[in-house]
Amino acid sequence: MEILNKNIDGKFYAKKVLKKIYPLSQDFLYKFNRRPSLAVIIVGDNPASKIYVKNKIRVAEENNIQSIEITLPAQTSEEELLKRIDSLNKEVEVDGILVQLPLPKHISEQKVINMISPEKDVDGFHPINFGKLYMGIPNFIPCTPLGCLYMIKNEVRDLNGKSAVIIGRSNIVGKPMASLLLSSNCTVTITHSKTENLKEHCKKADILIAALGSPEIIDDTYVNENTIIIDIGINRVEKPKEKVKSKLVGDVNYEKVYHLANKITPVPGGVGPMTIACLMHNTIKAAYQNQKHNFIDLLEEHT
Ligand code: GUN
Repeated sequence: MEILNKNIDGKFYAKKVLKKIYPLSQDFLYKFNRRPSLAVIIVGDNPASKIYVKNKIRVAEENNIQSIEITLPAQTSEEELLKRIDSLNKEVEVDGILVQLPLPKHISEQKVINMISPEKDVDGFHPINFGKLYMGIPNFIPCTPLGCLYMIKNEVRDLNGKSAVIIGRSNIVGKPMASLLLSSNCTVTITHSKTENLKEHCKKADILIAALGSPEIIDDTYVNENTIIIDIGINRVEKPKEKVKSKLVGDVNYEKVYHLANKITPVPGGVGPMTIACLMHNTIKAAYQNQKHNFIDLLEEHT
C-alpha cells in the first residue's frame, strides 16, 4: 500500500520561488550596476527575532541581494528609530526596508510602520499597501500570507467557493490572509479569541489557517478529513518528557491532527521558508520599481 505523505513542503516551494529570484538579481546587477538592496532593522535582543533576521540576511546574500543590517539597542528612542527610517527612505540605493517586529514596548509599531516609505515597504504593512491589498489592487503583499497563498494555490487547483477559516485577526497575517483568499473566490471566515463555537467554524473549513500564536492548540476536534491546514504559528516550547530541552511547534498539534487532515504544513519546514522567499521576491520587485523598470510579478499567477 502506498504511504501517503500529507505534508505541504515549504522548503520545496521556497526553492521554486528562489530559483526565479537569482537570475533576476543577476539581471538587475547587469542593468543597473548594483545589487538589489534590503535594509533590516532590529531593535533590542529578542532571541526569536535575532534568528529570523539572521535567516533573512543569509537568504538575501545567497540570492545576490545586498543586505544592510542595522542593530539598535533596546533602549533606542522612538524618535531615533524614526530618524533612521527617514534617512533610509532617502537613500536612493536602498530598495527595501524591513523593521523586525515586535518592537520594545516604548516604541509605537504603527508609527514606525507609517514612517517606512510605501515604495520600500517590502513587508507590505504600510496603510497604503494594506489598503491597496483590500481594494484588490495590491503592490506589496505581506510575506507570510503571500507565501501561504502560493502554497495553497499549488495544492488546491480550484479555490472557487471553498470555505477558508482563519484563526487570528492580526494586521500581519490574519487580515491580509483573509483578503487574499477572498480575492481568490473563497468564502472566508475570520475567527479570533472572542469567537463563539470556534470548533464548529473550524470543522467546516476546506482550508484552515492557524495564526493564533498559542502552541499546539488546534487538535483533531477542529478538523475534518478534507481540511488543508496551514499552520502559521512558530512557538518554542519546553519538552521535559522528550530528549531535547525545547523544540519549535506550530499552533496546530501536528501529531494529533495528521491522521485526519487532508494536508498540513509542518513546523518547522512549512510556512517559515516561504515567508523568507516572498521577502526576497518583494525586495526584487521594490528594486526594479525603484529603477522605474517594469517588473513582471513572479507570484501574480498565484495571488
Ligand atoms: N515579526 C514576525 N513576522 C514578521 C514579519 O513578517 N515582518 C516583520 N517585519 N516582523 C515580523
